[in-house]
Parts: sequence; structure tokens; C-alpha cells
Amino acid sequence: MSNMALFTRNSAVMPGGLTSNNRKIDRDIVFVSAKGAELVDADGQRYIDYNCAFGGTILGHCDPYIAEAVYASMQQIDLIGLGTTKPEGDLAERLVSLIPSAEQVMLVNSGSEATYHALRLSRAVTGRQKIVKFQGGYHGWYDYVAMNVITPETHIGQQHRLSAGMLEAAATETIVARYNDEADMERVFQQYGHEIAAVIIEPIQHNIGGVKATDNFLKKLRELTTLHGSILIFDEVITCFRHGLGGYQSLCGIMPDLTTIGKAIANGMPISAVVGKRDLIQRCAPPPNGDVFLAGTFNGAPPCVAAAMATIDRLSEDTSYPHLYHLGDTMRAQLDGIFERLGIAAQTGGYGSVWVPYFFTGAYHRYEDLLANDDALDRKFRSRMIDFGCLTSPTPLKRYNFTLAHTDEHVAQTLTAAEHALSELAGRPHTKVYA
Ligand SMILES: Cc1ncc(COP(=O)(O)O)c(C=O)c1O
Repeated sequence: MSNMALFTRNSAVMPGGLTSNNRKIDRDIVFVSAKGAELVDADGQRYIDYNCAFGGTILGHCDPYIAEAVYASMQQIDLIGLGTTKPEGDLAERLVSLIPSAEQVMLVNSGSEATYHALRLSRAVTGRQKIVKFQGGYHGWYDYVAMNVITPETHIGQQHRLSAGMLEAAATETIVARYNDEADMERVFQQYGHEIAAVIIEPIQHNIGGVKATDNFLKKLRELTTLHGSILIFDEVITCFRHGLGGYQSLCGIMPDLTTIGKAIANGMPISAVVGKRDLIQRCAPPPNGDVFLAGTFNGAPPCVAAAMATIDRLSEDTSYPHLYHLGDTMRAQLDGIFERLGIAAQTGGYGSVWVPYFFTGAYHRYEDLLANDDALDRKFRSRMIDFGCLTSPTPLKRYNFTLAHTDEHVAQTLTAAEHALSELAGRPHTKVYA
């Protein structure tokens, strides 16, 4: 069946033909196979994948080492209901040894579940209701946090919710603050300090490309949360494992109370975790030792745990992070060269293996600075890149991810495509024909 036929079939039985609103790509592509850094659709078109399951498949698609680990687990132990298993303890122990602020671990299934549990635990230990998130950050799809990621200029400074049907009482307890703005943080704590259960932050806001918190801002957050008895949560669902096995905290040296991890942890298998201080996480033990409810049929499923252990093995190899960083550094430098040659007012942002074209020049410290982005040009660029077989989100500001399976050859092909697309957009016919 063709893309069109399959998309029509899928749309008849699923809303918009999709299983996540974030997956919309404005064209009827239906993927039928994935291997390494490449995807193939039902019409036989090949793509270099730059979404990579929103960064989940950090080793590349259908990695044989992961497949073997999952298969081996399925021969030995699958999902168990009662009690505990050896594999989940093995993984928890490994995460404690890798992530500096981790003393104990709760294994769950998705990034949203992890942040949900971290926030509920924070409310339990502080006895407070309010949470603080930042404009530009994403922490999941549920009512406490589904707001203010990519927000129209007219809605900055107020709650901009991502969904109808959100529970008013839940959403109103969330304060949306300005990223990298110490004075705003002082103001928020002055006004609400005794009511704030937790501050949740992406230390690099990769949900709007790559906006990095300054060390001073993270230090300020650490100071203010400690002073006011609030919990500091680093949401490292993207940054942990992608930028290093110890997460961004191991790079910046500032320690949160709780950390959420997910996505790349098991190369695309559904598993995530909350890690943090023992005295906090211990509250999630069953009564009488704890009083915060932790449950989930699939929590710590051994095949997913096996995938996580195998992913850690592969990422621990000496060449893994140097390769990921090399790809990102090369792309940022070379794409900036193209922007300069063509006289396009743009820059390439990102960190490590994450990169993003921003269609404006000048510094940026928070989402509000990204309002200068030429969204129309950004959209056109993304659309042409998909035409040329480089798969990315059509939405402006969204990041591109590399995996261990991407090569210098993929980078070269992508740069040729980018030069072609940008030449067209700049009104300069490109002489080199993209093959
Ligand atoms: C930083 C961050 N936190 C939490 C989530 C939610 O994760 P999931 O989609 O696995 O529920 C995401 C997903 O994009 C994320 O980027």
C-alpha cells in the first residue's frame, strides 16, 4: 500500500491518523522501516532521520545490540507483577553510580510519568501546592505542566495551555516564570515562596531548540529553593544520556533534589526514571515506611530494563560521546558557514548532538528572545529539507538530533541539501543539483 492509502486508512481509525499531536508532519508520510540513521516510507522514499524518536533512539534505529538484549530478556524473564526483579535492581544501582545526585531510583514508563511522580512527591514532602515551570520548557502532557512551550507573543506572561479539558484547579497552581531571569525568580519566591512545592527546569531547553540555562541562573535556583524549602527538579528527560551518562548535572556541577530521565535511556524502549535524594524517594516506599503512591503495571519491565542496560553499555564505549559531539559541532560550524555565504540572517544553535537552525541573529537567553525567529522562513526551510530527504519537525524552533548511527556522510548529504534549500529561499539559484 502507498503512503496515501495507508495514511487514509490510519486516519479513519486514529485521530488525525496519529498517536501523538507532536508527530504531525503536514504530509501523508507513513513509515514502514527504520535502520540506523535512516527511515523508509511506504512509497520507498528514504530519509535521514533527524527526529530520532524525539531523541530517544540515541544509538540509531533497530540497533542489533539492543534487539539482542531485549530478546535475551524475553527468554529469561518478562513482565512480573508482584515483588521485585534482579534486572530492575541492576539498572537502579547503575543509575545511582552514574548520575551524581542519584541515591535512589523509581522506574516508570515515560517522561510525563517521571515528571508527574517528581511533582507529586514534591507536594507531599513540602505540604505545598504550587509549582514553577519556565516559559519554553516542556515536561509532559498532563494538566499541571501542559502549557507555555512555544507560545504566541500575545500570550507571553500568562498561561498558554496546550489542551482543552484541563482541570482548572490543577493548572492554576502552576506559575510560569522567565528562564534565565534571576530577578523574576526573586520576585516569584518573594511573592509565593512559602507556597512553592517545586521548581522544575530543563537545564537546556531543547523543546525550543537549545536555550541553555546559565550556571548563575541554576545556582540562583539552587539557592532560592533551598532557602524557601522547595524541591529543585532537573528535568533531564532529554539531556541525560544524550549529553553524558551523568546528565547535564555532571557537566554543570549543580545538583538538584530530584531528576527525571527518559527518552534516550533505553534507545526507544518505553522506560523512564525519577532519581534523587534517598530521604525524598524513600517516601514512595509502600506504607508504613512511605506515603506517596507509586504504581504502574509496566514499571521496570525487564525487557525495557535490558534495553537500558545495553544502551548504557554502548554509550560507555570511549568513542560514543566524542562521535555524538563531533557530529553536532560539525553541523553547527558548517551550517553557519552556509548562512554566512548566502547572507542569510540565521545561526545554528544547540548543544552536543542536538542542533537547530534559528532564523535570526543576536544573542538569546530565553524563549522571548526567539520571538525574533523568522518562522515563515524556518517553516519553508524545514519543508524543503523533508523534500530532500532530511526528516525533521515542520515546526519552527524544534531541534534536530544526531545518533551514534549518523556518519560524516549523512552530515555532508544534509549540508548539500541545506545549501540547496537555503539558496532557493534566498532567491539564488543553486548550481549544484542535489542527488
Ligand atoms: C524535557 C521533557 N520532559 C518530559 C517529557 C515528556 O516525556 P514523554 O513524552 O515520554 O511523556 C518530554 C518529552 O518531550 C521532554 O522533552
